[in-house]
Amino acid sequence: MTILVREAVEADVEGIARVHVQGWRESYKDFLSPEALAGLSVEERRRMWQGIFARPDPQAKTLVAETGGEIVGFARGGPIRGENADHLGAEAEIFAIYLLDKVKRQGVGRRLMQGVFDHLDQQGFRAVGLWVLKDNDSARRFYERLGGTPGPEQTFDLRGQSVVEIAYRFDLTA
Ligand SMILES: CC(C)(COP(=O)(O)OP(=O)(O)OC[C@H]1O[C@@H](n2cnc3c(N)ncnc32)[C@H](O)[C@@H]1OP(=O)(O)O)[C@@H](O)C(=O)NCCC(=O)NCCS
Repeated sequence: MTILVREAVEADVEGIARVHVQGWRESYKDFLSPEALAGLSVEERRRMWQGIFARPDPQAKTLVAETGGEIVGFARGGPIRGENADHLGAEAEIFAIYLLDKVKRQGVGRRLMQGVFDHLDQQGFRAVGLWVLKDNDSARRFYERLGGTPGPEQTFDLRGQSVVEIAYRFDLTA
């Protein structure tokens, strides 16, 4: 199975929204209640992603992973959002990275992250931060393998559930 990693275009909105919901359902079943997962909506995600494509930010980048014409993963990063600047200690942020279970552990996550890092590096950002659920061991090992260093924690309301998140920071110049 050949998996292509490429820049996302507006026509990918439906596929990204579907991966966003299915990715949460597959990957967050140990962290979020069945009610919270059942309440996720592809339509809501579609609107969110349409909004992102309607206001393009050249400093940000969305990449998708595609196989056989199906979107199976995506990652998006860009300039840090106001409230995170102090906590993450970086000027740029990975907003999201999700893969479907069927394509995990094949190096696709690494390719998506590297592609977004390369873009952020070209934009002049020196460090990138993100938040991950503290209990999400597989994603934390992935980030640590890619050179991320853990930082502060915060409690966050995720779909009505209180969760603990931990920050990771990546130095692009390292
Ligand atoms: C986290 C995620 C993006 C990783 O993508 P991936 O394509 O599966 O990871 P890769 O194959 O590129 O892995 C690169 C390295 O990271 C580490 N790694 C990745 N997944 C791991 C896991 N489940 N357990 C331990 N180490 C892992 C390994 O060292 C791996 O190298 P190796 O396979 O040669 O041993 C993917 O699993 C995912 O989408 N998870 C669900 C969504 C999620 O949690 N997103 C993060 C939200 S903050």
